Amino acid sequence: MTRKLFVTTALPYANAAFHIGHMMEYIQADIWVRFQRMQAEGNGLREVHFVGADDTHGTPIMIAAEKEGITPQEFVAKIAAGRAQYLDGFHIAFDNWYSTDSPENVELSQGIYRKLRDAGLIQTKTVDRFFDPVKGMFLADRNIKGECPKCHAKDQYGDNCEVCGAAYQPTELVNPFSVFTNATPILKPSEQYFFKLSDPRCFAFLRDWLNTPGRLQPEMVNKVSEWLGEAGEKLADWDISRDAPYFGIPIPDAPGKYFYVWLDAPVGYLASLKNYCGKKGINYDALLADPGTEQIHFIGKDIVSFHLLFWPAMLQFAKHPTIDRMKVAVHGHLTVNNEKMSKSRGTGISPLRYLNLGMNPEWLRYYLAYKLNSRVEDLDFTGDDFVARVNSDLIGKYVNIASRCAGFIAKKFDGKLAASLSASSQEWIKKALVAEDGTERQATIAANFDSREFGKALREIMEIADVANRFVDENKPWVLAKDESKVAELHDVCTTALILFRQLSILLSPVLPGVAANVRAFLNDDAFTWADTAVASGAAWQPMLGRTIGAYSHLMTRVDAKMIEELFDAPTQQAAAAPAAAAEAAPAAETAAAVGDIEELAPEISIDDFSKIDLRIARIVNCEHVEGAGKLLRLTLDVGEGRHRNVFSGIKSMYKPEDLVGKLTVMVVNLAPRKMKFGVSEGMVLAASAKDEKANPGIYVLNPWPGAEPGMRVR
Ligand code: 2FM
Ligand code: ZN
Repeated sequence: MTRKLFVTTALPYANAAFHIGHMMEYIQADIWVRFQRMQAEGNGLREVHFVGADDTHGTPIMIAAEKEGITPQEFVAKIAAGRAQYLDGFHIAFDNWYSTDSPENVELSQGIYRKLRDAGLIQTKTVDRFFDPVKGMFLADRNIKGECPKCHAKDQYGDNCEVCGAAYQPTELVNPFSVFTNATPILKPSEQYFFKLSDPRCFAFLRDWLNTPGRLQPEMVNKVSEWLGEAGEKLADWDISRDAPYFGIPIPDAPGKYFYVWLDAPVGYLASLKNYCGKKGINYDALLADPGTEQIHFIGKDIVSFHLLFWPAMLQFAKHPTIDRMKVAVHGHLTVNNEKMSKSRGTGISPLRYLNLGMNPEWLRYYLAYKLNSRVEDLDFTGDDFVARVNSDLIGKYVNIASRCAGFIAKKFDGKLAASLSASSQEWIKKALVAEDGTERQATIAANFDSREFGKALREIMEIADVANRFVDENKPWVLAKDESKVAELHDVCTTALILFRQLSILLSPVLPGVAANVRAFLNDDAFTWADTAVASGAAWQPMLGRTIGAYSHLMTRVDAKMIEELFDAPTQQAAAAPAAAAEAAPAAETAAAVGDIEELAPEISIDDFSKIDLRIARIVNCEHVEGAGKLLRLTLDVGEGRHRNVFSGIKSMYKPEDLVGKLTVMVVNLAPRKMKFGVSEGMVLAASAKDEKANPGIYVLNPWPGAEPGMRVR
């Protein structure tokens, strides 16, 4: 059976240009899609349809258009016209880019609604809705802000909390206010349409759907299971209607009522697919009904509730054919220097500025891929780390192989590769491409790409590059080239190096498609599928023997660290002033401690003693005050083990919980759990304090240098 993959990324709101977080998600999905396509080209196993669209409906876009004095359709069209420069610029190859404001989406959304209604899952209720008394209109969820009812984070939107991910009704917000006028909204009764998520059928379905092995990441199963409750008691009906004036899709048989944007947004995935099928002459219904078709959505962790509760339940009861073959791949957010990006702090990265600076889009693709895994973890961009990673791997290891050998083939052998290889070179090829246990590395790399463990895939590819470089270093073609009697050896060595270079290029091509196209032209290669990496069949090297190749031109330049400085916005005055003020407040920070001031050094231990202590980099995913505890903060820590740890730490005097959330620190992970008055502490966070705690009562939590990641061992 042919696997047919219907792949999407979250549909971006059509009220702004793409930001770097969008690019990260699209790059992740694009790499995965390109990898899958390489299977199709080789052996017909996969057919891939990768579609996106603008998410156009809702009040913010209506209001933005109103401000510009144009229609919402004109507004959306302007935004849509700007999409290609980003997508093309970063080699993101959607098959189709469409819009939720489309005839297909109207038909599909209304069709799904009618089926849900027929299934008895739509109910009307008169409810109080927020109304802005100054502006004279009902307020959309995103037009109301306030305190999250679950975690009490401030300044959260009316639909879900960006800090704890909870979904709720705007009426549940604490201290709500209208974002238009700052007025306190008043409640006005209005008849609304609800999707009955509280119906026992929804719980029964969702519980099984979520728990189907391989469908979702384990942390997502846990999170959503919590939202379901033991028996679905936590599931609340979902208000899917909004009152006119609203830019949206009319609800059938309900004059003046429109679908809430989050109802028709995911239906936009299907609308884009249907539109694409129409253009390509593919039968949309037959494609979805095909038992080989799988549906995969790449999304960020902030929109999980919509994709793992409402969307699957809607599809199930609208009898959507691929619901049993649907997966959702959730990723974390992109941070800069381990902090949320902030324009005012000068840590915002604009994708267009990146391109306009002449920075190579494939540097970013590689860097992000190197840091991506299949878990729901934030991914950190650090300038120094970016420069080091790209220059070391792509230039120092990969491109270097071709640039050291290609010239000899052109100059000495008229561009023709050797027709056969020495036994020693064949051994080196095996050493590079086959792991010690006999597994072909390409198979492991394929499994890692397939399971979105891109970082693991790239690390293994770089191991091949290391062997290839060792081969070149040991055989020194530049020395062989000086000795006429070594001409056959030179031919053999350069051919072998280019065979390995071709292998690396094929394996890297999901990540570096532009480079791969240039390498194909250089090597006169019309293949580059995954089948061309097979070692046992000889596909990995035989087709290169005796081949005439083209002229080599440099494939990629090094990153210039100066570019990174220009990449970021200048911090605003207020933010820029903050560190200086802090420095003034602590003038003694740089003075060396006077002799004798420090605590006595502990007796010597052996390295074995030290290695008994398992120290790990941990991310502080949450931090809160502990009621009744004078000194303690409760930290929720992630060391990449698939669960979170609860640790109490006596650092309350020094840190506000919100300042610690998202930061990295160091913890002891193998300390026996300790039962405390306020709960069990599962480890210890490292912090420094002075000998004389009265003179210097400070306690300073350790914070690793950029590049460290949760789970790394400190040794
Ligand atoms: O959060 C967002 O940016 C939404 N526009 C994502 C929608 S995803 C899908 F449902 F369309
Ligand atoms: Zn919250």
